Amino acid sequence: MSLANVPPRPTLRRRFLKTLVVAASSALAARGARQVEDRDSFVFATVADLHHANEDCDPWFEKLFREIEQSGADFCLVLGDLAHAGEDNSIKTIKSVAAAAGVLIYPVPGNHDCDLFDDTRVYRRTFPSRLNYHFTRQGWQFIGLDSTAGKAWGDVHASDETLAWLRQACHRLSTDLPTVLFTHFPLHASVPNTLVNGQSVLDITRRLNLKMTLSGHHHGATENTFTPTELFTQPCASRVSKNHDGTPDKGYYLFSCHRQGTWHQRFVKFSG
Ligand SMILES: [Fe+2]
Ligand SMILES: [Fe+2]
Repeated sequence: MSLANVPPRPTLRRRFLKTLVVAASSALAARGARQVEDRDSFVFATVADLHHANEDCDPWFEKLFREIEQSGADFCLVLGDLAHAGEDNSIKTIKSVAAAAGVLIYPVPGNHDCDLFDDTRVYRRTFPSRLNYHFTRQGWQFIGLDSTAGKAWGDVHASDETLAWLRQACHRLSTDLPTVLFTHFPLHASVPNTLVNGQSVLDITRRLNLKMTLSGHHHGATENTFTPTELFTQPCASRVSKNHDGTPDKGYYLFSCHRQGTWHQRFVKFSG
């Protein structure tokens, strides 16, 4: 090889500067990661019963998820009934609109997401790993459950498969971390069209540090206690569907959570 073909070697100074840049980048990355992981508090959003019906709903949800992104929420739980009539396009639209707004969503299926085939197959096309699952964020555990029984809207039991998955998961999960369980069907017996075996779900989670359960389907706000757990349902966030309890306000919740397991929530009205 002639000298003309030898690639120039970086001078000592250039190599030193490059080392400094890499070191600084690594330090910033590490610091950034720590800032995310070491924060004492974080915010997540919840929306329920979106009931996307057709393309006329698109601007409504584009605005909704833009608002959620601007709220500072780290992610958003979607509590089922993404679709109004089980359409594939509706479920895909919710996913794409949330992604376009920069909102990380964690959904569970609702009965209306099962309308076409009386099962979760359409929902699973878009969210194949979002039936029964769990994840951890900022020292809190989150458990999403498939509480559907096809397209049935009343007298619904969580399936044996879901209960078996939950039993196994509860033995793997931390018993110390503050934990949130989210479902489409409500869990407390006093809420209309609640899960018939909601108490079984709660009993299975007894060994966890379950702070709250969050559910949709009722299209209305309820708050109950199964000591020490708070059980919530919330108004819908739909353009085409009403609240079943007759209340006019639609919207979403923002939950501000602290590492030590305390939290507070506030409802944000949304009218498109
Ligand atoms: Fe609904
Ligand atoms: Fe529902």
